[in-house]
Amino acid sequence: MAVNLRGRHFLSLRDFTGEEIRQILDTAKALKLEHYAGRRPPLLAGKSLAMIFQKHSTRTRVSFEVGMSQLGGTAHYLGADQIQLSRGESIADTARVLSRYVDGIVARVYAHSDLVELAKWSRVPVINGLSDYSHPCQILADFQTLEEKLGTATGKKIAWVGDGNNVAHSWIFGGAKLGCHVALATPKGYEPDAGVMAAARVDAERAGGRVTLSVDPLEAVRDADVVVTDVWVSMGQDKEKEARLQAFRPYQVNAGLLEKARPHAIVMHCLPAHRGEEVTADVIDGPRSVVWDEAENRLHAQKALLALLM
Ligand code: CP
Ligand code: NVA
Repeated sequence: MAVNLRGRHFLSLRDFTGEEIRQILDTAKALKLEHYAGRRPPLLAGKSLAMIFQKHSTRTRVSFEVGMSQLGGTAHYLGADQIQLSRGESIADTARVLSRYVDGIVARVYAHSDLVELAKWSRVPVINGLSDYSHPCQILADFQTLEEKLGTATGKKIAWVGDGNNVAHSWIFGGAKLGCHVALATPKGYEPDAGVMAAARVDAERAGGRVTLSVDPLEAVRDADVVVTDVWVSMGQDKEKEARLQAFRPYQVNAGLLEKARPHAIVMHCLPAHRGEEVTADVIDGPRSVVWDEAENRLHAQKALLALLM
C-alpha cells in the first residue's frame, strides 16, 4: 500500500522506513520514465521551493531548480550570505517567515543542528541538501542508480572506502533500511559516527542486512557489488587538508583495489571528484563507473521527493 509522505521533513534517512524509501525510489523511476517519454506532469504547479545554501553546490542546486521547473513550480535560490540570516536574523525567524511564502525549503548547511532548528519552526517540509552529518538526497539518487544497474538493492554488498563522512552516514542509514551489507573501510580517527553505526545496525538486523567497519579497504571491497568513495576533504575541512591527504592515501579506489570486487561491480562517487586522490582517473572514467547516471538521478529522485512531500 502506498505510504503518505505529505508534509514530512526529509532530514535523514534514519527517519524513514524501508517501505517509505522504496516509495520514493518507485516514484523516481516512474518520473524518469515520464521524462524520457517527453512528458512533464505538472505535479507542483503553483508551488514554490526556497533553497538556502551556506555552501557551494553544482548538482544539488541545479537539480532542485530544474526539478521544480519541470514539475510546474518555481525554486528560489537564497545564498546564505545574501539573506538576513547572515546579519543575525535567527533560523527560527527565517523559518517562520519563509514558510509563510513557500511550500518547501531545501537547506545546505554546515551544522546539522541548523536543519533541525529550521524544521522545528517551519510549517512546510524542510529537506536536507547536505549537512556535516548527512546527505540523504544523494543516497536516493544512488539507490536509484544502483537498482538500474544491478537490480534490487536488498542483499547487495556496498563497499565504502575512505572518510566516514556525511555521505557515508547516509549510505549506512539507507543501506541498513534496504537490507544491504554496507562494508566500510576508514582510517583510524575517521570512522563514521558511533551513534549512526549503532542505529543502523538495529535497522540492518530488522531488514536482513549488515553494517561492518574495518581499517582494511581490501576487506570492504572483497566480493562487493558496489564500490563507493568520496572526497578526502569535505567542505569546511580545508584546515585539515594536509593531515587528511596523508591519512587517506592507502584508501584510494584504483584498478588494483577494484579487482577484488565482484566482476560486475560498479563504482559510485557523489561528485565532485578529485582524480588522483580518492579515485584514479582510469577508474572514475572507466567502464565500471556510473557517476554520470548517479548525477542525473539526483534530478529524478528529488522530483519524486518534492512531489511526495509537498
Ligand atoms: N553531490 C553533490 O551534492 O554535489 P554538489 O555539491 O555539486 O551539489
Ligand atoms: N562529503 C562532501 C560531499 C560533497 C557533495 C562534502 O561534504 O563536501
